[in-house]
Amino acid sequence: MSTIPTGGDGKVTVPDLLQRKTEAADSPNKKKITCLTAYDYPTARLLDEAGVDVVLVGDSVAMVALGYDSTLPLTLEEALHHTKAVRRGVQRALVVADMPYGSYHGDLNEALRNAIRFVKEAGAEAVKIEGGERRLELIARLTEAEIPVMGHVGLTPQSVNALGGYRVQGKTPGAAEQVLRDARAVEAAGAFAIVLEALPRELAAEITRSARIPTIGIGAGPDCDGQILVLHDMLGLTFREPPKFARQYANVGGTILEAVKEYCADVQSGSFPSDAESYHAPSSMKGRKTIPIAR
Ligand code: KIV
Repeated sequence: MSTIPTGGDGKVTVPDLLQRKTEAADSPNKKKITCLTAYDYPTARLLDEAGVDVVLVGDSVAMVALGYDSTLPLTLEEALHHTKAVRRGVQRALVVADMPYGSYHGDLNEALRNAIRFVKEAGAEAVKIEGGERRLELIARLTEAEIPVMGHVGLTPQSVNALGGYRVQGKTPGAAEQVLRDARAVEAAGAFAIVLEALPRELAAEITRSARIPTIGIGAGPDCDGQILVLHDMLGLTFREPPKFARQYANVGGTILEAVKEYCADVQSGSFPSDAESYHAPSSMKGRKTIPIAR
């Protein structure tokens, strides 16, 4: 029997998130939606214990944890593997899996089969796909198959080659109009939430005002219904200059570096392991020339 709660007990569900959007601005239930990425069991457990609403197994895992230059090389099998690990660590939060580049860009039936794998094999409760108007049919198809979809418009990192880089989107009237159309299309197709990435604050605020589904901002200002960050950015665990919007809450990279240097020095000096950190032979064995090796 599964130990994952399916409702009640504070479990975050898709209807809960939709409900939050409808709460009056002055209601105590009008809470922002907190989202972070996780790619493995320990961080997923910590995020869940801290009370995060949504854990996204982002395809950012490709760059942040697997060392690729972009998100494009991530395979479906890799994404499923990380989603399974996260699923095992989460009890309360909603687990959303990012569908990797190439897993939903061709045939709709194949995209549906791939999305179903995230639900059946990896335990995801929703999938995220990038793109607006172009994804209308796909989002409708997935929602018809009972798979909740989180949309993602603005800067869509899987479009890096088409966009020519990672840049703020929607900065001209025409570009802003296109992002608005994309957001509307995602909502009309049946998505339950939409990530707005790297957009002018004013544009994200306008989308948030007009949308009936929650908006989750990353580099889109404070007026969205929720916020998401890449966990490794906020923990100082990347080897790149963090983007302007990524507030760093800890320097875990620095802590790991210092701890590992100290360990190496202790091994070299002989202070690690100490006698107290060693196992000892039973007193009956003391004085014998050979001690049997415990297996
Ligand atoms: O892959 C990811 O981490 C994401 C978030 C930045 C929204 O898509």
